[in-house]
Amino acid sequence: MRIFVAPDRATAAQRTADIVEGFVNSAASTALGIATGKTMEEPLAEIARRCRRGTLSLAHAEVYLLDEYVGLELDDPCSFANTVDRLLVQTTDLPPGAVHGPNPHNPDLYAECADYERHVRAACIGLQLLGIGTNGHIAFNEPGSSFASSTRVVQLNEQTRRDNARAFPDGTRPPAAAITQGIGTILMATELLLVACGQPKARSIARALEGPVTRSLPASALQLHPNVTVVLDPPAAALLTDASSQRCRTP
Ligand code: GLP
Repeated sequence: MRIFVAPDRATAAQRTADIVEGFVNSAASTALGIATGKTMEEPLAEIARRCRRGTLSLAHAEVYLLDEYVGLELDDPCSFANTVDRLLVQTTDLPPGAVHGPNPHNPDLYAECADYERHVRAACIGLQLLGIGTNGHIAFNEPGSSFASSTRVVQLNEQTRRDNARAFPDGTRPPAAAITQGIGTILMATELLLVACGQPKARSIARALEGPVTRSLPASALQLHPNVTVVLDPPAAALLTDASSQRCRTP
């Protein structure tokens, strides 16, 4: 596991974009797994800037979403599909047809999950971006999720709904359910890139990277993957021991 502690959030975003750029420019695979959430907004904005400058192109990329809420209208700006459309499709040369995600409006969600799981496996994700919840979730795999889990419908816990409420208009709450790739699905990607910024993530980052591998902290499953990069800002790295936070500091 490579841990980069950037001097600040903006540098963490640059570093994340560097890794995505390296992957897109060199990749044998074109399949890029995208996470949503506030943490990803700066890295995705930086990727869009590089596309506008012409140093990066997503014209041949295929983008796969990690998860999606169940219960939002098709045109709801808070859905992850619409978020990716706004942050990547409208701002880069990524073709709209190159964004893949589970369809939460399928009346048969069980079939939808099985279908999306097949789709993701067939794509062989080359680089998977990940955020982390304050309770240690990855995608929407809440504490207790099996490390062998595949794409499925999950109930979100209260902490997650409270945390994610900041992305929703005042007075509305995130849905109680979502479709998420499983931890087993995520671990199949060739490379994982976990990004976390801010003090609220410090505890889950320390537990995920240095604590025991346990289903009560879903992100600890990353310790089982052979090719993981973690990009942090100093507040998110604050509870790591010196040994791991000094391991690699970006200039
Ligand atoms: C959300 C998403 C995750 C995301 C995480 C962090 O619940 N399902 O994929 O990584 O929480 O979100 P944020 O960056 O907004 O803290």
